[in-house]
This record gives sequence, structure tokens and C-alpha cells, in this order.
Amino acid sequence: MESKLSSVAKTLTPSPIQELSHLAQRCNAVNLAEGFPDFPAPLHLKNAAISAINSDFNQYRHVQGICDHLAKKVKQTQSLDINPLTDVAICCGQTEAFAAAVFAIIDWGDEVILFDPAYETYEGCVTMAGGVPVYVALDPPHWTLDPEKLRKSFTQKTKAIVLNSPHNPTGKVFTKDELEVIVGECCRRNCLAITDEVYEYITFDNNKHISLASFPGMQERTVITSSLSKSFSVTGWRVGWAIAPSFIASAIRNIHVKVTDSAPAPFQEAALTALRSPPEFFESLRTDYESKRDYIIKSLEGVGFKIQFKPQGSFFLFAELPENCPFSDVEYVKELIQKAGVVAVPGCGFFHTNLCLEKLGQVDYSYQNRYIRFAFCKSDETLASAAQRLGSVSF
Ligand SMILES: Cc1ncc(COP(=O)(O)O)c(C=O)c1O
Repeated sequence: MESKLSSVAKTLTPSPIQELSHLAQRCNAVNLAEGFPDFPAPLHLKNAAISAINSDFNQYRHVQGICDHLAKKVKQTQSLDINPLTDVAICCGQTEAFAAAVFAIIDWGDEVILFDPAYETYEGCVTMAGGVPVYVALDPPHWTLDPEKLRKSFTQKTKAIVLNSPHNPTGKVFTKDELEVIVGECCRRNCLAITDEVYEYITFDNNKHISLASFPGMQERTVITSSLSKSFSVTGWRVGWAIAPSFIASAIRNIHVKVTDSAPAPFQEAALTALRSPPEFFESLRTDYESKRDYIIKSLEGVGFKIQFKPQGSFFLFAELPENCPFSDVEYVKELIQKAGVVAVPGCGFFHTNLCLEKLGQVDYSYQNRYIRFAFCKSDETLASAAQRLGSVSF
């Protein structure tokens, strides 16, 4: 009966993270693999959700206040004027907002430009919609964007580009110059953009998040997607949104209604409280993660890693294996689980090798199995325990 599966379903396989998570569970490993916090959500949010449940917000719901608040926020932070009645779609997390955005704009055979390495869900959505992912490799060690590579990746069939900044897995925040290159190409080629801004509030040092939509000529061609998940440590609440020109936002809402109907009602209510958190909340989110970043860098440097690229945002460190390490990324993570009792993610799952170019000997992609992603969205106790376990073994 397996042959009855659709051809697209057959292309979707469990991510390496899921498989390693099972091994990690068996070994009782400290989990630095999963990209979600292991500490409690902020109390004011939990109280708001409890109060919403007690107030019987139990049915399908659209909380317009979220859209109104987002309109004010994008005006303040990105100088964008949006109509909260027409330009926002509330979805079940960024994941659904992104999928709905892809289904709203991608037709069979349309090409979609993605930066490599990339967060794993984009490709699946693009292919499910019948689109063709086209990868532009960012250059290690600083994951810089080569304008020439971007230019060459456009064809007559390019419909959209996906930008995730701050970036998972590298922690890169795209610079203004890089964004300008992307803007120039999008406008010149009349191409749409879908942004993933879930780490918008988590930036370090002097790096600032700038939305692609805020550049001249971009608002009319950009779908911003984001969510409560990362900024408020509530990845399981499933509240996210898309902000887009009204014709796209309306298409996204129509898809959303057909697929999930409504984001969870009590958590939409709690989202209002979350989004209205005072500036100090966002400042301590940033500084707390910055000190966790510095801690994990120090811990890894202590066991021989040379961290060439410090995350500028997000809560991931994409660390290159020490030169003398004989293992590939997957082998290293297996050793890490079994010997140290710590689990992280092998970087190869985020890369999409362009085999044709490699076969032609034009590009060396050997770096793709030399990176490990460590998530530092963990309590100080978890990070300390991981550091101690790492320090106790040598590979
Ligand atoms: C870049 C990126 N986008 C989106 C998500 C998922 O967001 P959500 O929980 O809102 O669906 C993640 C989660 O790891 C992520 O890293």
C-alpha cells in the first residue's frame, strides 16, 4: 500500500534531528539540539493564557488586536505603514504562515531562491507547492552573500526569494549592504520575497534586525512571517502571522481557513499580552541570550573549537569542527552523545549540495560536513552541565 503515497509525501523524510533525538533520549543526553527553550515561559504570558482559558475563549477565533498591535509595531520599528484590517493573517506559528505564503504565490515550476545553509522547513513547503528550490550558497566562515552568485541564480522562472535573518543555523544577521543587493535584484527581476523574522528581537552586539520589507520598492512585494515562538519562549503555543500586501494577505487567510481554520484561541488572547510587553522585556531577552552565547562559545573554545563566526542573532552557534578532528559532523555528534552525553545537530542537514557543480569540480563543498549546530536557548544549569560533560571527554 505504500505505493499509494503521493509522490510529494515520499520526498519528505524525518529530519536527522528527530533520529538523533531518539539516540540522545536513550543516552539521557543534555539536549543542545532542539531549537526551543527548556526554561519556563514568562509568567505574565502564562497568566494571560490561563485567564483566557478561564474566560472560555474556546472557539475558533480571530483576535484583531494582534493585527492592530503588529501594525503599530512595524510602523515603530521598520517605518512600515500597513492596514491591520487587510494586511495581516494570523496563523499557527511562522511555519503555517510560511507554508500558506508559499501556496499563495508559487505555481508548478516556479523557482524559489533560498540561501544555503537553510532552516529545513522551507524546501518541503516549496516542493509541496510544486516549486523548485534554487540554492545560493553563503560563503563560510562568515556566511557572506556573494552578489554575483545571487545574480546568477535568477532565471525567467524565478518567482520569489526567501530570506531568514537573523538566520538559523548560522546566527548571521544580513548586513544592510547584503539586503540592498537582494532588494536590487528583487526589484529588477520583479520578484517576490518571503521573509522569516522569528528571531527579530534576538540580536547581539551592534547588530540590528532590518526587515527586507522596509527598503524602497519592497513592501509591495514582501511577505513578512514571524511568530510568538522564539521571542516569548512559547514554541508550542502556535501563534504566528504573515504581513503582506492585501491581495497576498487575503490569499494567505483563505488558505489558513482551509487548512487549520484558526490559531489556538486562548493563546491568541495571550499573544496580545505578549506583544505589549515593555521594552525592558525585549532588552533582557537580548542580553540573556547574549550571555548564553558567550558562555557556550567559551565552553567550546575550551575543548578545542575555534569559533570564527560569533552568532550575531538567533540562539544557535554553528561551530566548525576543530581542524584536527577526524570525524565528520554526523560521526562527531554520535560520539558526543555516546561519550559526553550531549546532543547537538550535525550541520549537513542544513546544506543542500549542488552536486552538479561539485562533480564538475567547480566548487568545494567539503565544508558541509564540518559544522555542528548548538542551540543555546537553554537554562544556565543545562548549559553548565553540557560544558562540564564536554570538558570531561577528549575525542
Ligand atoms: C528560522 C526559523 N523559522 C521558523 C521556526 C518555527 O517557527 P514557529 O514555531 O513559529 O512555527 C523556527 C524554529 O526553529 C526557525 O528556526
